[in-house]
Amino acid sequence: MEEKLQPSKHRERDVQFIKGTRAGVFQEVYDWIDNPNGRNLMWLSGSPGSGKSAIAVTLAKKLLERGRLASSFSFQCSRITDPTLFWRTIAYDLALCNTDIRRDIINLVNSPANAFVNDIDFQFQELIMNMLKKHSFTHPLIIVVDALDECDSPNRLLKTLQDWTQRSLLCKLFLTSRPEQDIERSLSVIDKQHTLRIQLGTGARVTSETNNDIRRLVERGMSDISQQYPDSLQPDWPGLEAIEAIVKHAAGLFIWVTTALKYIEGSEEESGCGLTDRLEQVISGQLKAGDLYGLYLSILDQSFNQYSSPLFQKVVGTVLFSKAPVSFRDICYLSGQARPDPEVEKVLVKLRSVLLKGQDGTYSIHHKSFADFFDYGGMPGEIPDRHDETKSSAYSGMSTPCNIIPSFQCIQPKYFTCQE
Ligand SMILES: Nc1ncnc2c1ncn2[C@@H]1O[C@H](COP(=O)(O)OP(=O)(O)OP(=O)(O)O)[C@@H](O)[C@H]1O
Ligand SMILES: [Mg+2]
Repeated sequence: MEEKLQPSKHRERDVQFIKGTRAGVFQEVYDWIDNPNGRNLMWLSGSPGSGKSAIAVTLAKKLLERGRLASSFSFQCSRITDPTLFWRTIAYDLALCNTDIRRDIINLVNSPANAFVNDIDFQFQELIMNMLKKHSFTHPLIIVVDALDECDSPNRLLKTLQDWTQRSLLCKLFLTSRPEQDIERSLSVIDKQHTLRIQLGTGARVTSETNNDIRRLVERGMSDISQQYPDSLQPDWPGLEAIEAIVKHAAGLFIWVTTALKYIEGSEEESGCGLTDRLEQVISGQLKAGDLYGLYLSILDQSFNQYSSPLFQKVVGTVLFSKAPVSFRDICYLSGQARPDPEVEKVLVKLRSVLLKGQDGTYSIHHKSFADFFDYGGMPGEIPDRHDETKSSAYSGMSTPCNIIPSFQCIQPKYFTCQE
């Protein structure tokens, strides 16, 4: 069956999630799950870095513990973008949950019908609908789908999702995505009676509950940092006022906090200034309050005098462009260095707040929004020159997206918290 269905092997990576956060969201989700007459599709939307994947992964884990998870699928994980992989993978997971479904799917894929297994409508009708109509579960199961916006052509799937909402099934689907136009338009076509939507408010729409959760993340991060300096920092460092300032700057973006914390925690070698100065930059709003791309830009600006250098471009391009985490040796090689090069390591050290170094020593981006920031679409090394004479005047203000775009040509910020 696996050979014929070829389900996705890439599953959601582990995410950081502070226990007890997002209580309101989970309550809404559980009420929806437990309502026997409820709608069968719930859509969670929010800006990049607002915490959708963290919720999706945590929900999937909790549902698995309760024996209610049918499948957990992420388009974001390992950059799965092929829409034909989706229902195939869900069908495979359903077959793992139920032996009767497994038997029927095996029969189907071993018949001439297998010729259509790549057709989305066929997958939906034969592998999903017919199976769910014919077989039942003790308790309704839930499919968790993360980052639909990452799919190449979500429209091809949205048609089947619209169909899904019209059916009465012993299975519900929890979907997350950024509020992209195509998805928004398509899901709003569905009668409001059929879809439930939760929006993670950011910017001006941030809720006090989200701020409380973000405060917990900031407090935990600061406590971790202060423990590294037990002789010089008080346990309550940096104090309530500083913590409140960071919560306010984050404006509901969890990724803003995790990136800012990594920056504060970093070293003088990375940023060219000490811990107190780095903290001051963050709380004073120098590191671009509530504006994620501005935050990235400020961090790069602070850490690199010259991030127009060809080596910087090659190193960043290599990490951004690699489908899988990449080793130091490979980064050196792909950046054109014959052997491990300390200069490459220096660039990587300075990128610490935006890159993730795995336990096996490989590098990947900490969050997809960093790749979006560059909006890379070409080959590595195409990051433009911020010192380009023709663009440098626009760079000086650097406080609005409009200023960022011309100074860093391939940065095309799509989301700013104020738009939410
Ligand atoms: N409740 C939480 N507790 C602790 N950390 C969190 C929480 N929610 C999010 N984070 C952290 O914030 C960062 C951004 O979250 P996440 O990746 O879930 O955002 P997202 O909305 O899925 O973004 P994107 O639209 O780019 O996929 C991650 O590093 C994640 O670990
Ligand atoms: Mg996500």
